[in-house]
Amino acid sequence: MTTEIERIVTANPPDRINFTEMYVTHDAFRRDLDRMTAAAAAGRAAAPKVLEGWKTFTRQLEVHHTVEDAWLWPKLRERLAGRPGDLRLLDEMEAEHALIDPQLAAIDTALATGSGEVAGMVGELRVALEDHLSHEEADALPLIASVMTPKDWAGFRGAMARRQRLSGAAEWIPWIIDGMPPEDARRWLRRMPPPLRLLNRLSWQARYRGRGLWDH
Ligand SMILES: [Fe+2]
Repeated sequence: MTTEIERIVTANPPDRINFTEMYVTHDAFRRDLDRMTAAAAAGRAAAPKVLEGWKTFTRQLEVHHTVEDAWLWPKLRERLAGRPGDLRLLDEMEAEHALIDPQLAAIDTALATGSGEVAGMVGELRVALEDHLSHEEADALPLIASVMTPKDWAGFRGAMARRQRLSGAAEWIPWIIDGMPPEDARRWLRRMPPPLRLLNRLSWQARYRGRGLWDH
């Protein structure tokens, strides 16, 4: 059976940009929103471990969108100068990010004050985020692949690493593999630099599990 990781790796030959980290990060957002949806439906959205899971989700989403807005879309704009149709897609990417931010803030307020219909708000966020992620995967990633090089992409990943710092990576790595089939997790971890893989094995993984996010 072809696993998700195999599908991604096969779709990314070595001389082309490898989008694996983009896909696994998007899938982790989807996983967390599924968990938030289930918690809200059960009336448990404000339970402490659910809140901690939600905060982790929003922190990782904020990092992801901030670096895309600050680094990726501007770099693509340079490459796409004089191509209005393609530039319009970047406007859409930014507009979709801008639509999601107030939804996150409204859910934060509802969770903090106990006001508002959290399940309904999470449902709306889920639709908006899925629309955005699938739009990015279907249209923006192929455009990136057509005008950017693997070296450019390494620049984007470097910007992401600088923004995350080591403390962010300590959360991001175990968060990505949370719920992944073990063989997929092992294969994906092999893509990480050996020192980070070692730190994850010795400390980050256990610390993340110990937090019991979402009451898992
Ligand atoms: Fe993305």
